Amino acid sequence: MDYKLKETNSGTAFEYGYLLKKIFPYIKPVLGRIVLNLCIAIPLGLLDGVVALSLKPYLDFVVNGSPEDTWTFMGHTVYIQSWLAFVIPFGIVGFALLQGLLKYLCNYLTDWTGNKISNSLKIDLYNKLTSLDSRFYDINSSGLILSRFLTDPETASKNIIDTIKSFVVSFFGLIGLVAVLLYNSAILAVIGVVVMTIAVTPVSLIRKRIKKVSNATMVVIGNMTTIMNETFSGNKIMTAYNLQQAQNEKFDRQINEQFNLTMSLTKRVGWMSPIMYFVCSIGIALVMAFGNHLILSGKMTAGSFASFVTSLLLLYKPVKNLGGQLANLQTNFVAMSRVFELFDLQPEICSGNKIITNLNDEIVFNNVNFEYEKGVPVLKNFNLTVKKNETIALVGNSGGGKSTVVSLLPRFYDVTSGMITFDGIDIRELDIVSLRNNISFVFQDNFMFSGTIKENILLGNPGATDDELNNVIKLAHLDEFLSTLSDGIDTILGERGTTLSGGQRQRVAIARAMIKNSPIVVLDEATSALDNESEAIVQKALDNLMQNKTVFVIAHRLSTIRNADRIAVIHNGELAELGSHDELVLKDNGFYKKLYDMQFKVQEDI
Ligand SMILES: Nc1ncnc2c1ncn2[C@@H]1O[C@H](COP(=O)(O)OP(=O)(O)OP(=O)(O)O)[C@@H](O)[C@H]1O
Ligand SMILES: [Mg+2]
Repeated sequence: MDYKLKETNSGTAFEYGYLLKKIFPYIKPVLGRIVLNLCIAIPLGLLDGVVALSLKPYLDFVVNGSPEDTWTFMGHTVYIQSWLAFVIPFGIVGFALLQGLLKYLCNYLTDWTGNKISNSLKIDLYNKLTSLDSRFYDINSSGLILSRFLTDPETASKNIIDTIKSFVVSFFGLIGLVAVLLYNSAILAVIGVVVMTIAVTPVSLIRKRIKKVSNATMVVIGNMTTIMNETFSGNKIMTAYNLQQAQNEKFDRQINEQFNLTMSLTKRVGWMSPIMYFVCSIGIALVMAFGNHLILSGKMTAGSFASFVTSLLLLYKPVKNLGGQLANLQTNFVAMSRVFELFDLQPEICSGNKIITNLNDEIVFNNVNFEYEKGVPVLKNFNLTVKKNETIALVGNSGGGKSTVVSLLPRFYDVTSGMITFDGIDIRELDIVSLRNNISFVFQDNFMFSGTIKENILLGNPGATDDELNNVIKLAHLDEFLSTLSDGIDTILGERGTTLSGGQRQRVAIARAMIKNSPIVVLDEATSALDNESEAIVQKALDNLMQNKTVFVIAHRLSTIRNADRIAVIHNGELAELGSHDELVLKDNGFYKKLYDMQFKVQEDI
C-alpha cells in the first residue's frame, strides 16, 4: 500500500458519495441537533424578506394613505393609517428580536455539533497516527502530517456544518426576497434576478484558481511546519554550524511564497467585488427607470416599488454568499478527503494471535532478506540463531545493517523474505503486544516523554511497586544522581528531557528497560556517547540489566564486545563472521580481526 501522502490533494476529493458515507458515523450522534439547526436556519433566512415586505403597506397606507381609510375586523372598525403606523415599526423591532434569538440558537448549535464532530474525528485520527508503522514516519515529513492534523479535521467537520447552515440561511433568504420581488412586480423581478446572476458569475469562474492557490498554500504551510520542527530538533546543530541565517532565509522564502500566493489570488479576486457592485448598480438603475414608468402608468404603487428596491438590495448578500458557500463546500470536501485518506491507511504490520510470555529456547533469523526501499537490499540472506540468555554482540561497518537487524525483532519493520522465529514460531504469528512486551530497548539517544523522571521510568511497567522502582533506581546507578536534584525522582523533564545529560538520560532509559524486566534486551550503541568514567557507571547499570537476559548488543567498546558470548560481524548486510572474540581474532584477514586491529586494539592498549 502507498504510505506516501500527497502534499495537497487526495484522489477522493470529488467522490462526494464516498466521503459522505465516511463522515456519516461522526454526524449520526449529533444528527438531531443538526436537523434542528437547519430548521431554525430556514425562518432565519426568510425573515430578511419581512422587513422589505413591510415597506409596502407602510408607504402605501401610512405615508401615502388617508386617515379615513378603515378596515372592518371582527365587527370592529380599524383606522388603517394610525394602526399600521403603530404596528409596523413595532413589528420590525419584534422581528429583529426574533431573528437575533434564532441567530444565537443557530450559532450555538453550529458550534456545538461542529466541535463534537471535529473532536471525534481528531481523536480517531490521532489513534490512527499512533497505530501506523515506522515506515509511515520514515517517508512523510512532520510538517505535512501536522498541517493535515491541525487544520483538516476542523475544515472537514466544523466548517462544513457552518457552511451548510449559512447555505440554508442564504438560500431561504434568497427565496424570501425573491418572493417579495415577485409579489411586487413580476417583470421587475425578472430584470433584477437576471442582473444579479450576471453579477455573481465571475465567482464561479475563478473557483478553480482559488483551489489551486489553496493547495499551494497548504504545501507552503507544511514546509513552514517542517522548518519549525527542525528548529526544535536540530537546534544544537543549527547553533553549532551557525545555520540560523540559512534557516531564517529558508523560512523567509516560504513566507514570501505564501505572500505571492495570497497576492496572486487577491489580484485575481479583488476586482470582482467592484465589478459586481457596478453590474448591480446598472441593474438598480434599470429597475428604477422601468419602475418609474410602472408607477406613472399606475401599474405599481410607490410602496411596492420601495419594497421591491429594498429586497433587491438585500438580495445581493445572500446571492453573493451562496457562491462563496458553494466554493467553501468544495474546500470542506477536499479537507475531508485528506482526512479520510489518512483513515484509510492500514498498518502494514498486523498482529498475530499467539501470546508469548517468555523466551524459552531461541531466536532464529532464517534466511532473512530486508529492504527499506524496493530494490535496495539492506540485509541479505541473514542467518543467525541466538540461544536463550546468550549475549550476542553485533559489529561491522557503519551502515552495514546492525540497527536494522534489531529493529526487525519488535517488528518496527517486517522482513522482505525469510522469517524470524521465537521458540520456533514466526514472529508474524505472535500477538504484537506480547511480542513487544518481551523486548526492551536502550538506544544511544533515548527519548524522554514530557513528565517526571518517575513517570518516564514507569513507562516500562506502569504497575510496578515502589520497591521495584527503588530497586531499579539503585541498579541503574541513578540514586546518587537523583539525590542531588531538589525534586528528586519527581523532577519534571523538558520536551526532550534536555535537562539531563546524555549519561543520565541513558541511565533513566536503562531503569525503564529494567523495570520492564523483559527476557530480551536490545542495546543499540547504548554507551557510545559516554566518557570513560560515566561509561563505567552506565556499564555497571547495563551489566545489571543484562543479567539472565537474551541480549543483542551493538557497541563500539571492546569491553562490551569481548564479554559477549558470541560476536556477529555484519558487513554490508551480510553475516560475515560469527564466533567468540578469541576465535575471531585468530582468523587472518577476517573482518573482526581487522576491526580489532584498527580500533579495538588501540582501546585495549590504552
Ligand atoms: N528508515 C530507513 N529508511 C531507509 N533506509 C534506511 C533506514 N534506516 C537505515 N537505512 C539504510 O539501511 C542501511 C543499514 O542501516 P543501519 O542503521 O542498520 O546500519 P548500522 O549497521 O546500524 O550502522 P551504524 O553503525 O552507522 O549505526 C543503511 O544503508 C541505511 O542508509
Ligand atoms: Mg546503527
